[in-house]
Amino acid sequence: MIDKNIVWHEHKLTTKERAFVKNQKPLLLWFTGLSASGKSTIANALELELYNLKKHTYLLDGDNIRLGLNKELTFSDEDRVENIRRIGEVGKLFVDAGLIVLSAFISPFRSDREIVSNLFEKDTFIEIFVDTPLALCEKRDPKGLYEKARKGEIANFTGIDSPYESPLSPSIHLKTDGESIEDNVRKVISYLEEKGYLSD
Ligand code: ADX
Repeated sequence: MIDKNIVWHEHKLTTKERAFVKNQKPLLLWFTGLSASGKSTIANALELELYNLKKHTYLLDGDNIRLGLNKELTFSDEDRVENIRRIGEVGKLFVDAGLIVLSAFISPFRSDREIVSNLFEKDTFIEIFVDTPLALCEKRDPKGLYEKARKGEIANFTGIDSPYESPLSPSIHLKTDGESIEDNVRKVISYLEEKGYLSD
């Protein structure tokens, strides 16, 4: 509930000016996909590429945010909704700061991703679906979490006993089965170039 005595305070400096000194168009690149689908890995490699292009970025990553800002949240449906709501708001602040923000969260629910996208100007929110089949994520299982979930040692695990709703029309659709990290980074960079996001 928002207190009725709180009103939005306009800043003297606008997003446009903050972005101008950084020579870039701010935006949020929202990665979504199953655990171990490759979201963080691709987002990390992409951030490095953007850095080499002299872009100012920040990467918001599921595990890291859950160790700090969202440390009291669980993996219940309700807490996942709150997790994504907060990330959307943080992303919005960072975009307002003029940054190119990359976020890597499972963000399993379509409605939550839509709520986040509605916080942004059209063309400032780019949904990137890292479409790795569950069987492959489970085979990779870098943290051994799928194995634990199958044994019933973790409840509400996405893809096992908690749902994942694939995007219906993501801006960018990536596959990691047979396509390398570099291929996927190139794909995102090409998309951003084609749409004019990387020109000053
Ligand atoms: S989200 O569903 O709320 O968007 P988020 O991206 O923050 O999830 O966190 C996912 C990461 O937390 C996974 O990559 C995994 O390492 C870890 N994790 C721990 N428990 C679970 C669970 N029950 N379901 C999914 N991921 C989990």
